[in-house]
Amino acid sequence: MKIKNICCIGAGYVGGPTMAVIAQKNPDIKVTVVDINAARIAAWNDKDLDKLPIYEPGLDKVVAEARNRNLFFSTDVDAAIEAADMIFISVNTPTKTYGQGKGMAADLKYIELCARQIAQVAKTDKIVVEKSTLPVRTAQAIKSILHNTGNGVQFQILSNPEFLAEGTAVQDLVAPDRVLIGGEQTKEGLEAIQALVDIYATWVPLENILTTNLWSSELSKLTANAFLAQRVSSINALSELCEVTGADVNEVAIAIGKDSRIGPKFLKASVGFGGSCFQKDILNLVYIAKSYGLNEVADYWEQVIIMNDYQKRRFASKIIQTLYNTISGKKIAFLGWAFKKDTNDTRESAAIYVADQLMEEQANITVYDPKVTAQQMQADLNYLNTRTEEENETNLTTVLDPYEASKDAHAIAVLTEWDEFKTYDWQKIYDEMKKPAFVFDGRGILDQSKLETIGFHFYAIGK
Ligand code: NAD
Ligand code: UDX
Repeated sequence: MKIKNICCIGAGYVGGPTMAVIAQKNPDIKVTVVDINAARIAAWNDKDLDKLPIYEPGLDKVVAEARNRNLFFSTDVDAAIEAADMIFISVNTPTKTYGQGKGMAADLKYIELCARQIAQVAKTDKIVVEKSTLPVRTAQAIKSILHNTGNGVQFQILSNPEFLAEGTAVQDLVAPDRVLIGGEQTKEGLEAIQALVDIYATWVPLENILTTNLWSSELSKLTANAFLAQRVSSINALSELCEVTGADVNEVAIAIGKDSRIGPKFLKASVGFGGSCFQKDILNLVYIAKSYGLNEVADYWEQVIIMNDYQKRRFASKIIQTLYNTISGKKIAFLGWAFKKDTNDTRESAAIYVADQLMEEQANITVYDPKVTAQQMQADLNYLNTRTEEENETNLTTVLDPYEASKDAHAIAVLTEWDEFKTYDWQKIYDEMKKPAFVFDGRGILDQSKLETIGFHFYAIGK
């Protein structure tokens, strides 16, 4: 079975870059990415590549190559579903904010809506691919919706979770550690798996394309994120022990990372992990374990989140304590708001929670981030519902220049590891700050001894 026409529902951080690369590598397949968010689709179609809705290094080039050749962005969901032989579902699956499983389970309403729309519109057989991250056994629910249409149309459901990380999405898609495809182990299921393998095989070596049953594939995605986040929480837990014992967390990380069984990656102590995936997926894993009565399993993984929340609070508390236990009316400059460098995504960014805690102490925060807008920062704060929108606007200001952010500030807090922060004229920053001038490096990126020589009081996590 040769796929000629792909539809992807959801033009977000995953759907956009993933389909752009699939289209780039398969010029003979027509790929249409659809979304109900008309503004997002308009931005994907913008002639000015700086206006793409997602900032990812290298993405503009891929889009420029494939767009309007075999890559299209549209709001006409029905037409794209009808024309496709393969439909990727890449919509958001956030943590539920209501009802049963509130604050833990994944909200699958967007997934179900897609399944129902496909069931309603499809007139020819389709392969439906779960690209979104989903609780294990979701394919069962999708199958049940699709198989009850009674119009004779046949569907195969595949799980093809996405492992890209933001900020390196294009690189991760072009050279993935592996591609994972799960499907039913029947003749038709195996044919569907092969059809998707063929698409990836145009650029991914076959030995890096893993095929499994549906449930292993669905569960592997949650498991991968849980393991990665667990490493960050583990090193963050140790960072506090380093601070009280005189050990240096970076030295410990290098020492343990040299052990090939442990490996060097994901051992960077930080102000806490953020992003749209780690917390959501672990909470979901915890919820699934609980729903099967596996309470010890649930408690084990929940500790990763508990530790992460603690690390964010601990960083904010350190700032308050160090500034003589009072930050009321003091200007605190934030460098960075995104949850990591090289992305404009702020979902679950540690910066939001640190800002919120400092604002509770009546600090005035001024933020500079190279890619995040003032509007986004306000939306992030308003979402927490801690205070009124007017109060958030008064107490948190966004500026377009780092030197303006730090001028007259009592302290600087580094919340994101943007490379440019290392290149600033730190003497100039020091000269224009209130004294004593404090730096709280939540990402371990600045040169501590250089800044201390200038005169800064310096706090680095885990030292
Ligand atoms: P996103 O919010 O950026 O994009 C989702 C898009 O789906 C939105 O633009 C929304 O308007 C659209 N949408 C929702 N319902 C729709 C419908 N019924 N019809 C058409 N469009 C609809 O989300 P994302 O970050 O791209 O994540 C998508 C999925 O991929 C999630 O399950 C996430 O867990 C998973 N994932 C994300 C990442 C990541 O780094 N962001 C990585 C791997 C996996
Ligand atoms: C993650 C997974 O890495 C990716 O495979 C999955 O598809 C989606 O979720 P993402 O959230 O985009 O990707 O970024 P990631 O690089 O994993 O970083 C997540 C958070 O952990 C960031 O806030 C980052 O700053 C933090 N982190 C990461 C650390 O604090 N220390 C580390 O050593 C690594």
